[in-house]
Amino acid sequence: MAINLKGRNFLTLKDFTPEEIEYLVELSAEVKDKKKKGIPVDNYRGKNVALIFEKTSTRTRCSFEVAAHDMGMGVTYLDPQGSQIGKKESIADTARVLGRMFDGIEYRGFEQTIVEELAEYAGVPVWNGLTNEYHPTQMIADLLTIREHLGDFKGLKFVYMGDARYNMGNSLMIACAKMGMHFTACTSKEYFPNEELVAQCQEYAKASGGTIALTEDVESGTKDADILYTDVWVSMGEPDEVWAERIKALSPYQVNKKVMDNASDKAIFMHCLPAFHDLKTKIGKEVYEKFGLSELEVTDEVFESDKSVVFDEAENRMHSIKAIMMATLGVE
Ligand code: CP
Ligand code: NVA
Repeated sequence: MAINLKGRNFLTLKDFTPEEIEYLVELSAEVKDKKKKGIPVDNYRGKNVALIFEKTSTRTRCSFEVAAHDMGMGVTYLDPQGSQIGKKESIADTARVLGRMFDGIEYRGFEQTIVEELAEYAGVPVWNGLTNEYHPTQMIADLLTIREHLGDFKGLKFVYMGDARYNMGNSLMIACAKMGMHFTACTSKEYFPNEELVAQCQEYAKASGGTIALTEDVESGTKDADILYTDVWVSMGEPDEVWAERIKALSPYQVNKKVMDNASDKAIFMHCLPAFHDLKTKIGKEVYEKFGLSELEVTDEVFESDKSVVFDEAENRMHSIKAIMMATLGVE
């Protein structure tokens, strides 16, 4: 049956079948190829999208803006300072206003319930540009990147190290489970994803031929991994006070040369970015002054190595966000 995602929201990959996810990855590859060849995909003229960012962003905002411009669409960026959202106007009212003017709405912010409420009231597709719980647009970019470097998803060993109970860990576990990969969260047990989500992903994995594993043991957890993935130890919106406990708990789960050497020969390193791998950031310097660590979730050596595909991932954010907008607005 042909896949048709017109009118659908894009809030979490839980809502999508493996075939629909595959379709979005394929469409991303197609629009990437067209962009490289200079073939325009600009038949969305006359449409407009709103981008709501309650947290900061480089990749996601730029991807939505560049993709929308490429598609011929108008874009309006709203940040918490420059709009009434949340302070003077509820999410439901905002959704009903924006839904009258725009053809689609992106939201980056805090609880998943906020983006769900927007979607309930907007009457147009709503795209989750990151919440505390999920980061689904990143998943399509990551799957495209994996496909480009390693081919078929089925049977690949995917290891996530670090804070596995937040947006990236949750979303990657879902994506791997749906696509038939063997997902391992290799981290301290208080950072394992929540049991309910693990159980749900185990169901997806049963259907796809994948598996889910949780381990605190780095040696066995990362052995023969095809993909090593990590993310920042402290996410946007979390207080500075948590740095001390994160560093203590997650330092053993840094992605370094020893970890990469334990992985498969063809292993790749992935990170959604931004990453703390040197002292060239304000926060990186502050952490160094307070805790004496010059590299956090990944060493500079691994980040800069030829196994690192992080900038392919970053580029693929734009192509995949274009595909997500096209599919949900209706492929023309
Ligand atoms: N990976 C990602 O979402 O990056 P930004 O926070 O820069 O959008
Ligand atoms: N976990 C990170 C992801 C950034 C793309 C955060 O929420 O800040």
